Formats: sequence, structure tokens, C-alpha cells
Amino acid sequence: MYPDLNNKIAVVTGAGSGLGEGIARRFLEEGMKVVVNYHSDRSKLGACDLAAEFNANSDKPQAVAVQADCSTEEGAAKLYQAAIDNFGDLDVWVNNAGIESRYETHELPLEVWDKTIQVNLTGVFLGSREALKHFIKKGKPGNIINMSSVHEKIPWPTFAAYTASKGGVKLFTQTIALEYASRNIRANCIAPGAIETPINAEKFADPAAREQTQSMIPADRIGKVNDISEAAAWLASDQSNYMTGQSLIIDGGMTLYPSFERGDG
Ligand code: BGC
Repeated sequence: MYPDLNNKIAVVTGAGSGLGEGIARRFLEEGMKVVVNYHSDRSKLGACDLAAEFNANSDKPQAVAVQADCSTEEGAAKLYQAAIDNFGDLDVWVNNAGIESRYETHELPLEVWDKTIQVNLTGVFLGSREALKHFIKKGKPGNIINMSSVHEKIPWPTFAAYTASKGGVKLFTQTIALEYASRNIRANCIAPGAIETPINAEKFADPAAREQTQSMIPADRIGKVNDISEAAAWLASDQSNYMTGQSLIIDGGMTLYPSFERGDG
């Protein structure tokens, strides 16, 4: 537990399911107040149930579920406004929402490329901008956490738009970390490997695909949501105060060149 997180105010995008939902839950368990963003009907229930669960334990709402497309200016502004209207301030912004889809690059439709960049990269910029504006206006410390991926580092054939977006998230995060470090604003990435969430549920439903992915992970297991949400709590807390501009890779060793495991080469 991180006592300094109690009563801190966060926005978590894409929190209706998967990593975002897990991070929002972990924050709420710390006593944080959270804007739980969801995008579609599919993720609405996860966000609303999470908010209801935590609001039942407190007299004042601790969580608010807010529908918004965080890849648009209006959506990002709506989430910021929800933090102000419901909780009166903002301390931590987690840009988590993301999408991925598989195409050979010579057949990748422009609309899919554009949409992937819009959600995974432009959304991170727009959320960060809302948070930065607030921290600057208030002259207060701030904390931005962006969800990248091991694919900010590992090329991933047939996922070119995804890798381009995640590489972009990494350098964008480093850039704002440098730009605002002297104003006590931190920005870091979490870079997960293969974690079981709805983004890859279809793929991992196939035992052969699952086995194949697992064989690429030295720790020999697919990650769980709490492997990531624990790191998010630490990154949000003052315990990580001296860390900025970094990517915390959490991948069971996937980025350690597993094919060299037995000393071949
Ligand atoms: C993707 C997963 C994939 C993992 C490892 C993540 O960024 O979202 O679908 O299994 O990278 O390749």
C-alpha cells in the first residue's frame, strides 16, 4: 500500500476492461478518487460496476464512470472536467486506452493505420495535454503514466501500426518528461508483455497460439492484470518520485532475447 495515494485524484482511460480496469481498481483500493473512463457499451458495464462497488463503501462518491472517446479533444476534455466537477482536482493521469489489429503491412488499410495511431498515440498526447495544462495552471506536481508495450522495443511483423504507435508513445513520454521535469511533473511508461486481457482474448482462446506466446516468455507464463496494476500504483505514488522518462518493462523476460536462453549464438 502507498499511503500518499489516499485521496489523490486520477483519470484512467480505457478502464472499462483489461489493464485500465485493473489499474483503476488498484487505485481505488488505495483510497484514490478515480474517473473510470469507458468507450463503448462493451466496456460500460465493467466501468459502472467498478464505480458502484467502491461507491457503496463511502458516503461521497469515490469513483465516477464516464463515457468518452479519449482519442478526441472533446473526449479528453470531458474526462478532465469530470475529475474537476466530481473531485475538484487532478494528480495522476493514466493514458491506457489502446487497440491492435493484425494485417500484413502491404495490405494494411489506411483507416486501420489512422485509427490505431489516433487511439494509441494521439489519445496519449491529448490526455497528457489536459493533465499538463492543469498541473501548470495549479503550479503543482503531477504524474502521467502512459501504457506502451514491449513493442515500443520489439518489432512485431503484421502489427506495424501498433508498433509505430507504441514507439511513438515511448519517445513522446520521454520528451514531456524532459520538458516538465523541472516543474515537478513526471511522465513514465509501463511496457507490458503478453498479459491476458480482452485485447488478446480471442488469440489466447486458441491453445496453440497461447502455447506459442508462452514459449516466448522465459518466466513461462502469460502475465496477469495485477502484474501491471501493482506497478501502476508504485509509479503513481511518491515512492517512485525520482523516476521520470522511463519505461517499466513488465514482460516475464520476453525482451531478453529468449532464443539465446541456452547460450547458443
Ligand atoms: C499486445 C499483446 C501481445 C504482447 C506481446 C502486447 O502489447 O497487446 O497482444 O501478446 O504485446 O507480443
